[in-house]
Amino acid sequence: MSVAYLNGEFQNLEQATVPVLDRGFLFGDGVYEVIPVYAGKPFRFSSHIKRLHKSLSAILMSFELSESEWLRICEELIAQNELDNASIYLQVTRGSYIDRHHDIPALDTPTVFAMISPLPPVKKDWQVADIKSYSVITEEDIRWQRCDIKAITLLANCMLKQKALESGADDTILVRNNEASEATSSNLFIVRDGVIITPPLSEHLLAGVTREFILALASRHEIPFEERAIPEHELELADEVWLTSSTKEIRPVIRVNGVTIGEGVAGPVWCRMYQYYQELKEQLYLGQISDEAAL
Ligand SMILES: Cc1ncc(COP(=O)(O)O)c(C=O)c1O
Repeated sequence: MSVAYLNGEFQNLEQATVPVLDRGFLFGDGVYEVIPVYAGKPFRFSSHIKRLHKSLSAILMSFELSESEWLRICEELIAQNELDNASIYLQVTRGSYIDRHHDIPALDTPTVFAMISPLPPVKKDWQVADIKSYSVITEEDIRWQRCDIKAITLLANCMLKQKALESGADDTILVRNNEASEATSSNLFIVRDGVIITPPLSEHLLAGVTREFILALASRHEIPFEERAIPEHELELADEVWLTSSTKEIRPVIRVNGVTIGEGVAGPVWCRMYQYYQELKEQLYLGQISDEAAL
């Protein structure tokens, strides 16, 4: 039975409830975070909490819990659920008000929720064959203009992901003005002639914690990278395509719209980057370096 956190109390997940007047329920008025936990320690915790604070301020909520208060909640969830490798979901909505109206209330009465679910253990001696490769389609991005906010309103993302599943693919890369921005729940990278390329941060995509981490690793290991627009047609010409997120880490994409990418297997730059990623993660949770020192 999973233990969750709701408004100051730890309780059975299946019994945790919120009022129907909650603006998260009525308007999708809230934001969230997903934080991976490896060997019992939240990974890149500060970056996730900073982004949560940014999302809250972007939706005009003044509510803030300090990083140490969030950490206490997360550590308690990890301990009570006895999970070593997990993913923690945090959600803050604007809370319940007597009437349903569009005006944003002057005072926040937030609903604060957190739950945890298991992630498969990280293999030390991983093989390329252990890593799931993706096949993707591309679709017009039908989401709103503030995809930099990690908002709980994910209906468009779900519909776009469903299109991929219905066509036998795993995910959808989203395209706006002929430029590929990200996928339904991950950031996008391509590799051309040894150079890693990812779209620049903008209101059309989420500033992924994994994205930031990968660029820092590229810098540290002197792999050239560029933050620049990726025209949709360039995807199929790329030597490698990757999708990245906190729970997927770095996923090689081997088909885009049915066209095979590179040799149809995880490419050499992906292999290097994945190795660096796993090494740094290990150093972090062995306490050999701090979360902040890793970038
Ligand atoms: C739309 C979108 N883009 C990118 C990401 C990757 O972000 P992160 O690396 O912080 O998990 C996510 C993660 O959920 C996402 O939903």
